[in-house]
Amino acid sequence: MKTIKPEELKDNVFDLIGKQWMLVGASDGEKANAMTASWGGAGVLWGKNVAFVFVRPQRYTKEFIDRSDKISLSFFTEDYRKMLSYMGTVSGRDEDKIEKSNLHVSLEEGAPVFEESRMTFVCRKLYEQEMEESCFTDTAQIEKWYPGKDYHTMYVVEIEKVLVK
Ligand SMILES: Cc1cc2nc3c(=O)[nH]c(=O)nc-3n(C[C@H](O)[C@H](O)[C@H](O)COP(=O)(O)O)c2cc1C
Repeated sequence: MKTIKPEELKDNVFDLIGKQWMLVGASDGEKANAMTASWGGAGVLWGKNVAFVFVRPQRYTKEFIDRSDKISLSFFTEDYRKMLSYMGTVSGRDEDKIEKSNLHVSLEEGAPVFEESRMTFVCRKLYEQEMEESCFTDTAQIEKWYPGKDYHTMYVVEIEKVLVK
């Protein structure tokens, strides 16, 4: 893996996150967990290169994100689509998803890095906020996405390192 600057990224972020999907991972130092995500983005805030991800309260991964100040966003080649579907439908509470997916994980500054990933963002949490019903300007989104009122928590994270193969 080599390190590049976020400014050197060639990927189209809409395709990268929305279509290719990513793993959002975190570790408590002993164990790591990760889940698939296709909502989020990357840009600039507070003079920093940031990413933002949205995690529902019931995700096991959220417990790990909340216990760490580092998270990782991992991207894979199309060969790993099945793995991403699995990591996005089964909870780490029920199965050791990382082992079952034959993923090899190590920690980079406290954030899980998967050997199989083609690109990993090592990120530091900057800001988190639970979405609130009263803040929706378009209330149609509430009916469509939150029948269970399980509003996402938004995490804004600084992209500290971009590792590429
Ligand atoms: C393509 C895809 C995209 C997903 N995007 C998100 C997302 O952005 N935020 C979220 O909270 N859950 C998302 N999920 C659902 C979680 O990945 C899923 O509930 C997962 O099983 C949670 O695992 P965990 O309990 O081990 O954290 C997505 C699932 C799939 C298949």
